[in-house]
Amino acid sequence: MKTMEGNNQKTVLITGASNGFGMEFAKLFAKDKYNLVLVARSGDRLRELGFSLQDQYQLQQVCIVQSDLSQPESPQEIYDELKQKGIKVDVLVNNAGVGVHGFFHETELDRELELIQLNITSVVHLTKLFLKDMVARNDGKILNLASIVSFMPSPLMSVYAASKAFVLSFTEALQNELKDKNITITALCPGASDTNFFKQADAENTRAANGPLSSPEEVAKDGYTALMKGESRIVSGMMNKVQAGASNILPDSALASTMRYQMEEKPATPESKL
Ligand SMILES: NC(=O)c1ccc[n+]([C@@H]2O[C@H](COP(=O)([O-])OP(=O)(O)OC[C@H]3O[C@@H](n4cnc5c(N)ncnc54)[C@H](OP(=O)(O)O)[C@@H]3O)[C@@H](O)[C@H]2O)c1
Repeated sequence: MKTMEGNNQKTVLITGASNGFGMEFAKLFAKDKYNLVLVARSGDRLRELGFSLQDQYQLQQVCIVQSDLSQPESPQEIYDELKQKGIKVDVLVNNAGVGVHGFFHETELDRELELIQLNITSVVHLTKLFLKDMVARNDGKILNLASIVSFMPSPLMSVYAASKAFVLSFTEALQNELKDKNITITALCPGASDTNFFKQADAENTRAANGPLSSPEEVAKDGYTALMKGESRIVSGMMNKVQAGASNILPDSALASTMRYQMEEKPATPESKL
């Protein structure tokens, strides 16, 4: 942790800040002078990012928490560490998440159980811990990373899409519970984007990963703007908005067929076969 004199700024905790959207969120919050708590497994990457943002924007406090959120004890450990350091979290960004690509009967169960722990359980656990404090202060903001696949079943990414349907449903239920409080909770629903996500999920050869991709900067900006306005849900990108709209009309079986096509491997081009 690096601290400068005085500390009257607000603090954001961002999970999965070492890469992709999370890294872009860190830049946006830093630009607006938020103190940062950056969480991920890659401590070196977090330190490099956090301390360069601290220098660039003269942030009062940057706290690096190297943690594996697929371990059940991690959310409580993070919360306890921050309490012990006297750090109050004003904004929570539940961003860390992974995918697993493949037919469910062929993929490794352990990877999918880790996915559920990270994408669902750690989000519930962190939200439980930090939301209680926000309610006690009647002040706070939460951003949860859902997805365009929150709206549709996704063959070949079945557990991932189900985890994101959970995140959206969970977020929207809490919005109602919190409607009379000075606390907002926002769901960000991006489509396929140019981050490490597809590679990590073993999905880099799919049509989705090789089609048009949103830039992480744009997605994070959309999420940041919606969060700051206290909006309930933001689908990032025009085509994704159309796709989310179509999910209200088309039967789930048709959506599943479309998603299966997207998640299948892109056939090799004649050139690459040579
Ligand atoms: N990219 C897309 O197409 C897309 C679309 C819709 C939604 N999303 C969602 O957006 C979120 C961010 O993904 P991204 O696209 O930015 O992917 P990314 O580039 O792979 O970044 C994922 C981040 O999560 C962290 N992470 C992964 N496993 C973790 C673990 N066990 N414990 C702690 N941190 C962990 C990674 O850091 P370490 O490896 O250092 O731990 C990294 O910082 C995810 O929830 C994803 O589901 C992505």
